[in-house]
Amino acid sequence: MVDHASLPRRFGGDPRQRPRRNRVDAWTRRLVAETRLSVDDLIWPVFVVDGENQREPVASMPGVERLSIDLLVPAVAEARDLGIPCVALFPCLPADQKDPMGSEATNPDNLMCRALRAIKREVPDIGTLGDVALDPYTSHGHDGIVTDGRILNDETVAVLVQQSLVQAAAGCDIIAPSDMMDGRVGAIRDALDESGHELTRICAYAAKYASAFYGPFRDAVKTGGLLKGDKRTYQMDSANTNEALREVQLDLEEGADMVMVKPGLPYLDIVHRVKAEFGVPTFAYQVSGEFAMMKAAARNGWMDYEKSLLETLLAFRRAGADAILTYGAIDAARLLRAGH
Ligand code: PBG
Repeated sequence: MVDHASLPRRFGGDPRQRPRRNRVDAWTRRLVAETRLSVDDLIWPVFVVDGENQREPVASMPGVERLSIDLLVPAVAEARDLGIPCVALFPCLPADQKDPMGSEATNPDNLMCRALRAIKREVPDIGTLGDVALDPYTSHGHDGIVTDGRILNDETVAVLVQQSLVQAAAGCDIIAPSDMMDGRVGAIRDALDESGHELTRICAYAAKYASAFYGPFRDAVKTGGLLKGDKRTYQMDSANTNEALREVQLDLEEGADMVMVKPGLPYLDIVHRVKAEFGVPTFAYQVSGEFAMMKAAARNGWMDYEKSLLETLLAFRRAGADAILTYGAIDAARLLRAGH
């Protein structure tokens, strides 16, 4: 035991300045908190599979499951009941529905559109964000059409426009192109407007980096094994910041309503700069690999999952994100509801 009374008392600083006073008790800490995380800031990404009563765990994302539409709808209703404003949908197709052109992407009755219609019918008061890119649909796992190993920009944009139109017609509230082709936001905006969807929003994955952190997602949508090479000719180089600002500026000029930075935690400087420079609704994506890292550490007993989840989500808010896509949305919503 240390005898505190006998310790020499020395204070090196100005005795008037004791920042710790504002941390003395929980109520003071609440009063002086600068940033808050609310359930209103959460978007829940979900994976949908064909069939009925299907529930497939994703090995690299503990707690995350691919669900068939009949099970997805009640899960989305639960998210709505917890106060989560929006879900993001990703389809996982069987290999025999994939081809080099990603043709299934533009089928008005594809899995994605059926899921959108079911959610809008059964849970109309939750927002739906629909990813637009060809990778879940192509046999090579790239986000666009490939010729001689090159991803063709303008030809891909034409398909993305059709994909956006079928999703908007199925009730998608926010079209979210994640493909990183040039000029796709403007092309999609024009096509939506011409077809009477002028209120369908566009959230551009504006600053999307080529990243190792997408690994578990590619397991979840079963594209990982298919992908040859990498996505560095279209997704951004993690060395760059100014380029991210240019991407954001172009997407805003082309009509994006919201912009996204992705991945999240390793790119908080980008989130901060985008929000500071443009002041527009800025979303961040806490991607699959970020989620997997927290889960893996927690499984080993090395970190507390719930605490690290809330701490990282608050970090996104501090950096300037208005909303965060996170696989932990349901967990976070429950924790917030319980007063954490
Ligand atoms: C596909 C897409 C990806 C993610 C969202 N949309 C993967 C990729 O670009 O290869 C990643 C999401 C995550 O890792 O959680 N265009």
